Amino acid sequence: MIYADQAATSFPKPPEVVEAVCEVLRRVPGSPGRSGHRGALAASRVVFEAREELAQFFSLEDESRFVFTSGATEGLNLVIQGVLRPGDVALASAVEHNSVARPLEALCRQGRIRVHYVPCNREGFLDLRALKEMVKTFSPRLICLSHVSNVLGTIQPLEEIVPLKGEALILIDAAQSVGHIDIDLSQLAIDFLAFSGHKGLFSPGGIGALYLRPGVEEILRPLKFGGTGSRSESLEQPDFLPDRFESGTPNLPGIAGLAAGARVVRQIGLKNISSHERLLAETFIELIKKNPKICIYGPKDRTKATGIISVNIEGLPPSEVARRLDREFGVMVRPGLHCAPLAHKTLDTLPQGTVRFSFNYFNRLSEVERAAQALLEIAS
Ligand code: ALA
Repeated sequence: MIYADQAATSFPKPPEVVEAVCEVLRRVPGSPGRSGHRGALAASRVVFEAREELAQFFSLEDESRFVFTSGATEGLNLVIQGVLRPGDVALASAVEHNSVARPLEALCRQGRIRVHYVPCNREGFLDLRALKEMVKTFSPRLICLSHVSNVLGTIQPLEEIVPLKGEALILIDAAQSVGHIDIDLSQLAIDFLAFSGHKGLFSPGGIGALYLRPGVEEILRPLKFGGTGSRSESLEQPDFLPDRFESGTPNLPGIAGLAAGARVVRQIGLKNISSHERLLAETFIELIKKNPKICIYGPKDRTKATGIISVNIEGLPPSEVARRLDREFGVMVRPGLHCAPLAHKTLDTLPQGTVRFSFNYFNRLSEVERAAQALLEIAS
């Protein structure tokens, strides 16, 4: 079998992650921040050390800037629903995932905000001139942007984009970039960065985190209210981080897995991860491009993309190609719209979408060669 669906969720999970998850399930008898007995203190330590690991991962001093969430979707919803006020305008790119587009559209349909989409070219890159104009015209409260397109692997140049935000707050969806490429939070004026653990950080699903730039927590309303184990005498939600945004018993095994995965990524090194993923993508494209019936989407310059490649075979629906890849060749990919109809509209691949191959650091070159061979056979 060849797993080429790493953008949906990573597989296999490194043994360090499996061990960290099992260790919590086996040995930690308590809920963090509650009860005060030794088991609860051990649980609190797991959470504290995971937050420290995230700070180290992003080379930041202050671990309290990270709030644990159930994944990128919750982090994105927390910001979109917690920042925008009636009458506000939001901008989003024309390749956004539904995890950004749907919460924005929901607020729009309730008549509370307006949303405008900044065009992208067919390689998935944001039109910077249009962004500049739209910031001037609409004075948006919030700009939402996928750092890496989940359909094309296109890496947006944040160092050029973030300075164009003007007075707006900027929310980066890093679901497909964390653990694949470097994100320098100390250099970029990113207000919010949402990510999940189960993709680039190799954790189980159901866990993620949101980074908040110092000060932005004051304007962010919580999405969830409830027990935090702190200030229990008060019926009001605590106003300090991270408790303000972390109500309810946390996903402790997930948090431990997230920390272990981040550590694995640090040990391998993001440079090594990026260059291996690029080698895999370049090799795959080099092999399949000899067949003119295969249409390849995304950046021509693969230094500006990750290990995600979308393709189509002339005359064959993506779902049929994916079915044959799986049944006849044991190659697992994701066909269709990838929860990103805006991106497919930009690509002009509606309604059927594309066949998406996505490779990560743990895919071998030989697997990529076999996946390419399988695609060539289907196209022949
Ligand atoms: N958003 C994930 C994907 O693109 C699930 O497949």
